[in-house]
Amino acid sequence: MNHPRVLTRKESMRILAEYGRDDSWTIHCFAVAEAAVRVGDVIANNRPIDCSFLWSAALLHDIGRYITHDPLLHGVEGYKLLSMLKYEKEAYVCAAHILFGLNAADAYQLGLPARDFVPRSIEEKLVPLVDYLIEYDQPTTLDSRFSSLRERNNGNSFFLTGLDRAQESARQFMKEIEEEIGESVENIVACQ
Ligand SMILES: [Fe+2]
Repeated sequence: MNHPRVLTRKESMRILAEYGRDDSWTIHCFAVAEAAVRVGDVIANNRPIDCSFLWSAALLHDIGRYITHDPLLHGVEGYKLLSMLKYEKEAYVCAAHILFGLNAADAYQLGLPARDFVPRSIEEKLVPLVDYLIEYDQPTTLDSRFSSLRERNNGNSFFLTGLDRAQESARQFMKEIEEEIGESVENIVACQ
């Protein structure tokens, strides 16, 4: 049986350094990883959470940007790279962070295997949520991040339709977490 390799913090940083080559987009990856773990640490007061996986998956969620900055295809390239390196769990997050999840038909259309890539665990859902709360390396709100994504991708109708769904999924998940922890996730992300 094939077991996925466990990705250490050190190895995830090595992969980001090798493929990111200090390009400016890697700053965003660090900001998302740090903020995701800050939120994860608060959630950990109530239930178990794998902050090591969360950190590595968040750090590498945009690794596909070494090939393309296309708002959809960078997730596909990240999935391909990390699958090739046998880091299946983190590869899944690269694909599933796109639009807060892709159904099998959309995944297949983008060049992924024809199955759902939808964030399922708390860690898998925190990566796209926190990604949507950080613009480059600065904390923002869900509403302003989605407005800025809409402006930047004006004309990309597939992406824009998916963005409405993504915003609703992110909003609902953030509400669930906030009910659980009794704090604002946007505030936790903003407290650097
Ligand atoms: Fe991304």
